[in-house]
Amino acid sequence: VSDASDPSIAWDALTERAKEARAAAYAPYSDYRVGAALLAEDGRVFVGANVENASYGLCQCAERSAIGAAVTAGARRFRAIAIVTGGSTPATPCGMCRQVLAEFPPSFPVRCTTIDGGVIESDTGSLLPHGFGPGVLAQGRG
Ligand code: THU
Repeated sequence: VSDASDPSIAWDALTERAKEARAAAYAPYSDYRVGAALLAEDGRVFVGANVENASYGLCQCAERSAIGAAVTAGARRFRAIAIVTGGSTPATPCGMCRQVLAEFPPSFPVRCTTIDGGVIESDTGSLLPHGFGPGVLAQGRG
């Protein structure tokens, strides 16, 4: 299992892809744009942006857009995700996205940056300690 310092992950290029995706964000309500770029084990990169809705509760985060694109294309194992937001304080994935990222083990590194240079590095396992998952589900049925 790699961490964010793994030299084989081209973080700058991945972050650039996330930045491009961010430009496509649909965020007329929050005016907070997010881009994500997910590196699959096979080398493909899947990007996502946040997609908001007039029914606010239906807003979809960039991370889940990227996961949806990846899984739709047959990718389920990942090496890294880069997330880009504006301002100076990076956004780490929200609780819902942590759960969705943790659905695809093993844990992989997460690098959250901002266009002004802020950085937070973590990994999907650390972002959801004691998370609910398929193992717990399987042993608790009935
Ligand atoms: N958002 C993301 O896309 N990813 C995050 O990690 C945090 C929040 C989006 C959801 C919503 O469209 C906007 O940011 C403000 O919450």
